[in-house]
Amino acid sequence: MSTPRFLVTREIPEPGPSILKEAGDVVIKDGMSADELREAVTSGEYDVVLPQVSDKFDAELLSQAKIRGIANYAVGYNNIDVPAAAENGIAVGNTPDVLNDATANTAMLLLLGAARRAHEASEYLREGRFTGIGPNLLVGQDITGATLGIAGMGRIGKAVAQRALGFGMKVIFTQRPPHDRPVSDDELGDLAGRVTQVPWDELVETSDFISLHVPLTEETTHLIDRKVLRRMKSTAVLVNTARGPVVDENALVRALRDREIFAAGLDVYENEPEMADGLVELPNAFLLPHVGSAEGGSRAGMARKAAENAVAMARGETPPYEVKP
Ligand code: DGY
Repeated sequence: MSTPRFLVTREIPEPGPSILKEAGDVVIKDGMSADELREAVTSGEYDVVLPQVSDKFDAELLSQAKIRGIANYAVGYNNIDVPAAAENGIAVGNTPDVLNDATANTAMLLLLGAARRAHEASEYLREGRFTGIGPNLLVGQDITGATLGIAGMGRIGKAVAQRALGFGMKVIFTQRPPHDRPVSDDELGDLAGRVTQVPWDELVETSDFISLHVPLTEETTHLIDRKVLRRMKSTAVLVNTARGPVVDENALVRALRDREIFAAGLDVYENEPEMADGLVELPNAFLLPHVGSAEGGSRAGMARKAAENAVAMARGETPPYEVKP
C-alpha cells in the first residue's frame, strides 16, 4: 500500500496531527476556500480529507472527488451529502460523544446568560453606568423551578437535562420535533422518571426555556419559525447550540425586537459567519461565535476521533466512528 496522504483543512489540536503523521503524509491548511477545497479533493493528491463543518461537500463535488474518505472534525455532518458520498464510494466519519459535556455546558451558559441578561449587564458595567446596586437593576427570569423544553433528547440533550435538573428546573422534551416518537425508559437511562416527553405544541407553549438539540435535516430547517415564536411565552428564552438553520433568524430578530419572547442565547447562525440584520444590536440576544465544543479536552478528543477515522479510511477499513447514509 502506498503512503496515505491526508489533507486537514484547518489546524486541529493534538493528538490529531501526530496520529496522522505516524500513518502517512499530512498537509495542514489554515482554512480553505470552496475553490481551493474543490481543487484539492478532485486532484487525486489526497486519500482522506479532514474538514470543518464550514467545508461543504455537495453531491456535485462528491461526484468528482478523488478521495477515499471524509473524516469530519465535528459530530454534526450536515456539511456533507452523506448518501452522495456513499454513491461515490467515499466513507464519512464524525466525532461523537467527546463534545457532549462541552456543548451542554455552552447551552447552560447561554441559558443562564440570556435569562439573567449577562450581555446587557456586562455592557452596562463597561460603559461606566454602574452607580450602585438597585432593586430593579437588570432583573432577569427565574431559573430554578422554571420549565426547560428540550428539542431532541439525544446525547447532548440528555447532558443538558442533567445540568438543568441540577439547577432545580423541570425538564420536558420532544424527541423528534415537530413530530415525535416515543422514548423508552431504557433509552432515557437515569433520566427516566425525571423528565417528561410531551408533544411539540405543548413544549412550545409551556416552556420557559427551549433548548435545541436536533440535527439539521429538511424537517428541522426553520423548526423555530415566526409561527412557533408567536406561540412561545413572552417570557421565554430560546437557546440554540445545534445548527443555525433550525431557527428562522430573521423571524427571531423580529420576535426579540418586538419582545414577543424575552431573550435568545445563540452559538450558531443561519449563514455563518454572517448574522441576520439587526441581531448583534439586540440587547436581549446573548451571542457566541460557534464555540459550543471549545473546551480543550473536547477539542483534543475530536482531533483524536477524526484522525482515527482518517487512518482507518486510508487503509480501506471501516472508520470507528462511521456516519452511515
Ligand atoms: C460539531 O461538532 O458539530 C460542532 O458544531 C463543531 O464544533
